[in-house]
Amino acid sequence: MLKIAHRGAKAYEPENTLKAFQKALDLHADGIELDVHLSTDGHIIVMHDETIDKMTNGKGEINTYTLAELKSFLIADKFQIPTLNEVFNLVDKKCFINVELKNADTSTQVVSLIEEYIKEKDWKYEHFIVSSFDWNSLKEVQNLNPNIPIGVLTEENIDTALAFAENIKAYAIHPDFQLLNNENTKTIQEKGFKVFPWTVNSEEEIQKVKSYNVNGIISDNPDKI
Ligand code: G3P
Ligand code: CA
Repeated sequence: MLKIAHRGAKAYEPENTLKAFQKALDLHADGIELDVHLSTDGHIIVMHDETIDKMTNGKGEINTYTLAELKSFLIADKFQIPTLNEVFNLVDKKCFINVELKNADTSTQVVSLIEEYIKEKDWKYEHFIVSSFDWNSLKEVQNLNPNIPIGVLTEENIDTALAFAENIKAYAIHPDFQLLNNENTKTIQEKGFKVFPWTVNSEEEIQKVKSYNVNGIISDNPDKI
């Protein structure tokens, strides 16, 4: 049962910061989940929302700022917004990284960065999962490099996600945990896919999805898994 820290260990540190990812490593998470967008000068920025309004002392859409401008805004008065490279360097193969593509424009840059770390820094494909609710982006990732493990995100329908996963030979299905039960978990696994539900936080919810024998759990508090 893999423990995957949602947006870093979001229950303990500001989400999607290097501090949150370090906390996930300290808690011995098997993987971290994070969200990405592009800056106007083409850097891969780690943040959940399309704007910086919720997390920083600034305002506006990420894709209207350069990286240098984004670095001038602070999260909780002290943390900078990280780039994906910075997170890769921090994690340094200590766990796998689930990169969630939030927009349709990030697949090319994310694939290039993954390929760079595989070619130049001896990372392996199993250090990565690329997931998205935007399935067209997942198709693009697969067309660019079919070796990259793909997680099909769904909050609506397991059967449709399963059909798409078969179509693109995905690695895993990442469903809203409330869509899961014993039967559909088994069906997904029998077709050869891992099951990584999100976002499972309370002990009751964790026990419930564990009883389905999922392959891993995406949680704000991975230490409770
Ligand atoms: O990747 C699973 C989960 O993170 C999807 O929802 O809104 O937390 O990005 P959200
Ligand atoms: Ca996410």
